[in-house]
Amino acid sequence: MVNYDFSGHVALVTGGTKGIGRSIALALLGSGAQVLVTYSRDQNSAGIFQDSLNSQQTAAMLLLQSDVSDPTETKRLFQESLARFGKPLTLVVNNAGILQQGDFLQLDEQSWDRTLEVNLKGPFLIGQELLRSDVAGASMVNISSVGGQTGGPKAPDYSASKAGLISLTRSMARLGAPLGIRVNAVAPGWIQTDIFTPSQLQDLQKEASKVIPLGRMGTPDEVAKSVLWLLSDESSYLTGHCLNVNGGLYFG
Ligand SMILES: NC(=O)c1ccc[n+]([C@@H]2O[C@H](COP(=O)([O-])OP(=O)(O)OC[C@H]3O[C@@H](n4cnc5c(N)ncnc54)[C@H](OP(=O)(O)O)[C@@H]3O)[C@@H](O)[C@H]2O)c1
Repeated sequence: MVNYDFSGHVALVTGGTKGIGRSIALALLGSGAQVLVTYSRDQNSAGIFQDSLNSQQTAAMLLLQSDVSDPTETKRLFQESLARFGKPLTLVVNNAGILQQGDFLQLDEQSWDRTLEVNLKGPFLIGQELLRSDVAGASMVNISSVGGQTGGPKAPDYSASKAGLISLTRSMARLGAPLGIRVNAVAPGWIQTDIFTPSQLQDLQKEASKVIPLGRMGTPDEVAKSVLWLLSDESSYLTGHCLNVNGGLYFG
């Protein structure tokens, strides 16, 4: 991975203890940032993540259990940055997300609401706090999905939330620009993580060789590379952009 220098920055990665978020958090720690990493319910993965860090990474990392859909908790993240590191958040990655596979006709209202709360309301609450904090030079990246671009019969709630996130990214980009805050999105395709059950992963791996032009699923590190680029000044003239990281699965 390219060596960025994020020293002096405090970053937030929601859902950063596993999967794509973990790769992003580790890449940021490796680039000199101090990093707030959140998780929601999986204490085991959080413990494994914490134990995997060396002493330098441990000193630069603050692990917090926090639900992105709770406004009190999202506010606290911004306060924790000041309290622990003495600096405001300037790099924000809205990565936390849930995928509950289910047919449209069986989807119940509670599941619909929960998906939208985590995947769309969470980034809204965090984005609102970032814009309120008015820190010129800040950069935010929202993790959307190819499902938000193509729609998805198996998880229509998820696809709607991720489509909404692209739109929210563009609204926040317009609002953030006069403040010197950039806001972009990344839309991953099929990435090998625990968001899928082992049997779903097996099916996707087989299917990938047929439907993905690059012939395989992507890795969390491949998404992290794009996220770090969007966070960095190397992408200083991009805002409101949605970057596809999907092996050619969708070109739009
Ligand atoms: N994998 C893919 O193919 C793919 C494709 C496109 C987009 N994405 C998106 O990429 C992001 C990361 O996905 P992933 O594949 O790495 O999934 P993952 O391995 O399941 O990780 C999801 C992370 O989000 C956290 N999270 C869930 N609900 C939360 C909440 N209410 N508040 C705070 N954190 C919460 C989880 O924490 P706990 O485990 O502690 O609950 C976990 O750390 C998601 O937004 C996902 O939609 C993934």
